[in-house]
Amino acid sequence: MSEIAKLVLADQTYEFPIIVGTENERAIDIQQLRGQTGHITLDNGFMNTGSCESSITFINGEKGILRYRGIPLDQLADQSSFIETSYLLLNGNLPSPSQLAKITDDITSHCSIPDDMKEMIRHFPKNAHPMAILGAMTNALAGFYPEVTPSSSEDVINEATARLIAVTSTIAAHSFKHSIGEDFINPSSNLEYSENFLNMMFASSTGGYSPDPDMVKALEMLLIMHVDHEQNCSASSVRLVGSSQPSLYAAITAGIAALWGPLHGGANQAVMEMLSQIYESGKEPEAFIDMAKDKSNNFRLSGFGHRVYKNYDPRARIIKGICMDILKKESIKDPLLDIAVKLEAQVLNDDYFIKRKLYPNVDFYSGLLYKAMGVPTEMFTVLFAIGRMPGWIAQWKEMINTPGIKIGRPRQVYTGNTETNYTPMQER
Ligand code: ACO
Repeated sequence: MSEIAKLVLADQTYEFPIIVGTENERAIDIQQLRGQTGHITLDNGFMNTGSCESSITFINGEKGILRYRGIPLDQLADQSSFIETSYLLLNGNLPSPSQLAKITDDITSHCSIPDDMKEMIRHFPKNAHPMAILGAMTNALAGFYPEVTPSSSEDVINEATARLIAVTSTIAAHSFKHSIGEDFINPSSNLEYSENFLNMMFASSTGGYSPDPDMVKALEMLLIMHVDHEQNCSASSVRLVGSSQPSLYAAITAGIAALWGPLHGGANQAVMEMLSQIYESGKEPEAFIDMAKDKSNNFRLSGFGHRVYKNYDPRARIIKGICMDILKKESIKDPLLDIAVKLEAQVLNDDYFIKRKLYPNVDFYSGLLYKAMGVPTEMFTVLFAIGRMPGWIAQWKEMINTPGIKIGRPRQVYTGNTETNYTPMQER
């Protein structure tokens, strides 16, 4: 017999079904709550609210587990590629050799953007944030290519999927070239995804660049690490905006906007700025830890804490390892790495952080790795977006294929004036 939850309101008892996920996650299904009781729930920040059932990504925040379609992240980071993991996310299973060849080909053949879009990038101020350019250009895709909505054919949706994964790296690289006043480097169909991105970033029109294979491998792993993270702020934004059924490009643009913030994907930029600030201040990291604990200001240690992880973020653990390896291999001495390691050790031993279960998150070490690749700080969040693109699309596809899906429209508890008469201007 299926389980039920009982709610007693005044003298009446109401019953609601319990939904149990494949990993024994439990939820009270309150779809009938308002209809039956006249009450709604209030849940600041959706701390306790599930917005959907999903079979894409599983996280156990207490144990520090992350799996895509059931496969542990570390296995994918070690053995898979970004494109293969994207296929897994989008289709639910690992591809056969021919399926992998096809998706790779689809992505490679959609890498270029129209000349008019390149011209649009050139019209941005040189110091425009690359996330502003990425958001604007992603929305602009809706104007350049056929409409992609939940009622579009599978072929149209697949083509848009390949295009989005492909052009995100092209737009990112072009926005970087624009910021430094260099010519854009066109995508190359002979290069693998990450190699192609590094080439578009660092080759010049006079040629002479060959991406370091260690950096290419590190970038692939970083992209895999960012591919999806269930119902986070940006994925939820994609779903919420997508639920009103605009173009897929518009829904993805919402995800890009949400990712930009320093509490979400923008934290990787904020971490580097914080580490630089500690370095330039000449102070010990402890001074900044004290500041983060002091409730009289809003300062937080960027790269620490997570809504779901109450344990070490598995992505942070892997990225820290790659970061250490790459810096050692390339004989890069970065004083910010020393500060990061010291800061982390002190935080992990500090009662304030222990009590609140605040551990390093994905953004704490990723910036140091991007920096080692020669990527400037302002581009960090864009790299996150490149990695997250397949996840956003997978979330959108899952949503539009859910029977009976409704427009996302939360309610509120109104706390404003009760009915008040209009006061004419001369009486105010
Ligand atoms: N530094 C200092 N204190 C912190 C930090 C931090 N980084 N993070 C949380 N806390 C404290 C809060 O002040 C709060 O303390 P209190 O209980 O005394 O009021 C407690 O820990 C719980 O924090 P909340 O803000 O309630 O946790 P929430 O789940 O809402 O926020 C978030 C999670 C936004 C990630 C938060 O930990 C944070 O701001 N971290 C820094 C920004 C960051 O690194 N973001 C990237 C997250 S990963 C990603 O999105 C890709």
